[in-house]
Amino acid sequence: MRTARTRRFLMCPPAHYRITYSINPWMDPSKPVDPALALFQWEDLRERYRGLGHTVEVLDALPGLPDMVFAANGATVIDGRVLGARFANPERAAEAPAHLAWFRARGYAEIREPEHVNEGEGDFVVTSSWILAGQGFRSSPLGHDEAQEFFRRPVISLELTDPRFYHLDTALAVLDDTADEVMYYPGAFSPGSRAVLERLFPQALLATEEDAVAFGLNAVSDGANVLLPRAATGLLAPLRARGFTPVPLDMSELHKAGGSVKCCSLELRD
Ligand code: ARG
Repeated sequence: MRTARTRRFLMCPPAHYRITYSINPWMDPSKPVDPALALFQWEDLRERYRGLGHTVEVLDALPGLPDMVFAANGATVIDGRVLGARFANPERAAEAPAHLAWFRARGYAEIREPEHVNEGEGDFVVTSSWILAGQGFRSSPLGHDEAQEFFRRPVISLELTDPRFYHLDTALAVLDDTADEVMYYPGAFSPGSRAVLERLFPQALLATEEDAVAFGLNAVSDGANVLLPRAATGLLAPLRARGFTPVPLDMSELHKAGGSVKCCSLELRD
């Protein structure tokens, strides 16, 4: 039997979500999103969290920042310490101060405005022993060092090599954060990083390319329930075999910008 731990998430509604530019291979401004459907899917995710007993805090969306719905990129919070983001692309730069302001207004005492590029939980994935950190497309290796110093936890740098999986959280998800249990798509990583993952996580659930392109690794687990896009059908049986309860969700509109469940959810580890 798996045990869930109650979580707190910060989410930002897709009030201004559009595809107006392209900063990853999924984004095509000529293929518009359906704003009403995007909002419906986002609300469904929020209500699923609440239905499972989790808390969802809401950050107000700002006009002119169409990717702000991907709240996971705005910061990283561990032990109540907040490392702000610094975006690689100018299109998203103004999201970072909006997140910092939210944390300041809520009285978080340890807040760091980063010197180096890091896209929050897009590239920082927290397991029980380590912070796994993606580089290659967005976050800088210097940002990894900065996170290690700030969080006082070991940071393992991993190199992403496939532009479709430009953030670590598109290629790897934590299933149990008390036991270093993860799932990932090996094809997203350099040979050296793949070997590191095999060494650290010999029991990992390995995803197929098909489930990875369906954004099945952009999943959130509370230790028992795994919320993931419903298109990643190949992950359902292996998750059940491990004792997890998959919670499939339709995230098709968010997928158009290269995001899904995890990208919309910033975990507040207070
Ligand atoms: N369009 C956004 C970008 O390219 C998507 C971000 C997805 N977020 C994530 N945590 N992977 O920056």
